Amino acid sequence: MDKIRIHGGHPLSGSIKISGSKNSSLPILAATLLTREQCVVHEVPDLSDTHYMLQILMHLGAQVERASGTVSVTAEKTQSVAPYDIVRKMRASVCVLGPLLGRCKEATVSLPGGCVIGDRPIDLHLKGFEALGAAVRVESGNIKIFAPKLTGTVINMQGRLGPTVLGTDNVMMAAVLADGLTVIEGAAQEPEVVDLANFLNKMGAKIEGAGTRRIIIEGVRALHGAEHQVIPDRIEAGTFLVAGAISGEGVTVKRVNPEHVRSVTDALAACGFPIDTADNAISVWPNGDARALEIKTDPYPGFPTDMQAQMCALLSTSHGTSVVMENIFPQRYMHVAELKRMGAQMRLEGATAVIDGVDRLLGAPVMASDLRASAALVLAGLKAEGITEVSRVYHIDRGYERLDEKLSELGAHIERVKEV
Ligand code: EPZ
Repeated sequence: MDKIRIHGGHPLSGSIKISGSKNSSLPILAATLLTREQCVVHEVPDLSDTHYMLQILMHLGAQVERASGTVSVTAEKTQSVAPYDIVRKMRASVCVLGPLLGRCKEATVSLPGGCVIGDRPIDLHLKGFEALGAAVRVESGNIKIFAPKLTGTVINMQGRLGPTVLGTDNVMMAAVLADGLTVIEGAAQEPEVVDLANFLNKMGAKIEGAGTRRIIIEGVRALHGAEHQVIPDRIEAGTFLVAGAISGEGVTVKRVNPEHVRSVTDALAACGFPIDTADNAISVWPNGDARALEIKTDPYPGFPTDMQAQMCALLSTSHGTSVVMENIFPQRYMHVAELKRMGAQMRLEGATAVIDGVDRLLGAPVMASDLRASAALVLAGLKAEGITEVSRVYHIDRGYERLDEKLSELGAHIERVKEV
C-alpha cells in the first residue's frame, strides 16, 4: 500500500484543471445499461471507483472501451446479477439497481457493505422501486428485485436526514422505462443528479424538473445510445480551493462551474480569503489571519458533507473557535483523531466538531480512513511544519485523479512512496 509524504511549508501557486465528476460518472456509466446501443461518455476520471464500475458493467455483459477520459459502453445484452466481489468494494455500485430494473425488470445486487462515514441504508431506494411495482427481498446478503412491469406513480424520496442522491438517481433510472408518469417528490438537487437527467434525456428519456425537489418522468418504450461530457468535479474543485486557502499564494481551479461550488467559496470568503470568479475558473488568495467559522453540512445547494473534512483541516489553524455541524453523515469525523495527532485542538459533541484554532500544525504519520478524510490530512500536511505521511492512500485514489501530482504541479513538496 502506497503512502503520501508531504514536506509542509511550501506554498502553492498557479492553476489546475479539474477532472470530471466521480459522483456524476458513476450513475451515468450505470445508465448506459438502459440501452443496447453504444454510449460514449467523455471526461470520466481515471479512479479506482470508475474502474470498479466499468468492471461491473463488463461482468453484466456490456462491451467497454476506454481511451484516456473517454469511455464507450455497449450493453447489447445484459444479465441482471452484479457480482459480490466487485460490488462489496464500492457502495455506489447500488446505482446499477435502477437501470437493471428498468432494462431487465429484475436485479440481484449484494447489499452494500459497511462504511466508515456511518450507516449507509438504501431503504429509500427500495421504497421507490416497490412504489413502481417491484417486489424486493433480501436473501443471503443480496437484494433481489423483480417487477413484471413498472408503473409510474408519485414517490416521496425524502429521508430522515434529507433527500438521497443515489436513491433519486436509481428511481429516476428505473422510471424512465416505466408505463406512465412518475413524480419524485423530495428529490435530491445535486448537480450530479441534473447531469444524469441530462444524459438520460439525450438517450430519449422525458425528464423534467431535475435540480428541483420535484422531478417528473414520462416513461418511454426504449432508450437509444447517446454521447455526453461529464460535469467537472465540484468536490475536487473545493478540495483544491481549500488547499489554496490553507497554504497558497494564489491558486486557480479551471474547468469548474462556480455555481456548483458557491457554498464552498462563500465559506472561504467568510473566513477572509479573497475569491475571484470567472466563467469557468475560481481563484483563492492568501489571507494572513483566517477567521473562525460556523458551518453546517446540508443537501445541495448547502455546504457539502464531502467538503466537511477539508474545512476542518483549514479551520484547525484559523484564529478563534469554529463549529462544524455534520447533518448528513453524523459520524463522518474519522479525520478528527488524525488531525489532533498533528496538533489540532478539536473535540466532538455528537455530530458537531468544536475547533480551537492553533498557530501551527506539526507533521506526523497519519492514517487515511475514507476518501475525504484522506484528502483533509494531505491538506493539513501542506501547512504543517515538518513531514506528514498519510498511509492507506488507496482511499484517495478512489476519488481523486492524481491528487499528489496535481498538488506537486502547484508547488507542493509531495511524493508517493511505496509502503514496505
Ligand atoms: C452520495 O452518496 C455521494 N456518493 C456521497 O459522496 C455524498 O456524501 C452523498 O451523496 C451526500 O451528498 C455518490 O454520489 C457516489 P445519500 P449517497 O443517499 O447517494 C441517508 C464521496 O465522498 N439515506 O444522499 O449514498 C444516508 O444515510 C461520497 O464522494 C437513507 O436514510 O448518499 C445519509 O444520511 C461519500 N436511506 C443521507 O440519507 C437511503 O435509502 C444522504 O445519503 C439512502 C440514504
